Amino acid sequence: MAFKTIIVEIEEHIALIKLNRPDALNALNATLLSELSQALTDAGTNKKVRCIVITGSEKAFAAGADITEMAEKSFVDVFGGDLFSEFPNTFMRVRKPIIAAVSGYALGGGCELAMMCDFIIASDTAKFGQPEINLGVMAGLGGSQRLTRFVGKSKAMDMNLTGRFMDAEEAERSGLVSRVVPAKKLINEAMAAAGKIAEKSALATVAIKESVNRSYETTLNEGLLFERRVFHSLFATEDQAEGMAAFIEKREPQFRDK
Ligand code: HXC
Repeated sequence: MAFKTIIVEIEEHIALIKLNRPDALNALNATLLSELSQALTDAGTNKKVRCIVITGSEKAFAAGADITEMAEKSFVDVFGGDLFSEFPNTFMRVRKPIIAAVSGYALGGGCELAMMCDFIIASDTAKFGQPEINLGVMAGLGGSQRLTRFVGKSKAMDMNLTGRFMDAEEAERSGLVSRVVPAKKLINEAMAAAGKIAEKSALATVAIKESVNRSYETTLNEGLLFERRVFHSLFATEDQAEGMAAFIEKREPQFRDK
């Protein structure tokens, strides 16, 4: 399917989704969010795809929701139409791992999009921020919630209240991103990470994604029980037998998602 605001490439078992509105620093307008939803749904249901990478340009992952599109909207428009409610629902339905490869600006909705992904690999030029306060509004897609869980209350308050940006080094130190790499190596690093994941049993990757995400939704004891039960259930798979046999036989496992 041809998209106007994103480019989708399927390489090996990885869907690489590139945000592509260079004139607006990949600002998230309605078309982009709808096309990204479609691409994620397609990748989620495409049997060939085992991992998804979302990236932007070298200058901007995404500079936020499209301000020109929001500027004319009234309370009745946004509350009545429940603006930005559909996109996260689609995103959360994808069971395959999603990596954000962030270079340059990841601001407002751009930072929030990166945080919706399962983990973030950043280039050394990345800048994260929730500058909505400068527009007289606030975060609306997780910037006051996910960011607080990632970096803690003090930094989340600082970023949301002052609108200051966090560079890649601070983002890694604070737990917002999993690794920082030179800008030129960003896509290779993200694709290599996705390639590693694609080699594993898809049953185990789904189980892990669900378990880690569960830790945000429940108490420690309930989360530990969920984790243990999912761990137990993987012993019903052929991939568990294959993975353990391969280790003992000192060979590479051949997972079949069974
Ligand atoms: C629409 C945007 C945009 C945005 C940049 N552009 N960000 N258009 N919405 N969020 C456009 C500019 O208008 C400009 O278009 C072009 O992209 C290049 O941007 P410049 O400002 O000229 O680039 P630069 O001087 O390098 O500054 C980069 C920047 C700045 C620091 C990222 O663009 C900026 O502050 N952008 C807004 C960031 C922001 O406030 N984001 C939060 C949005 S609210 P022209 O046509 O002039 O060349 C939000 C709410 C989330 O995200 C709620 C839930 C989704």
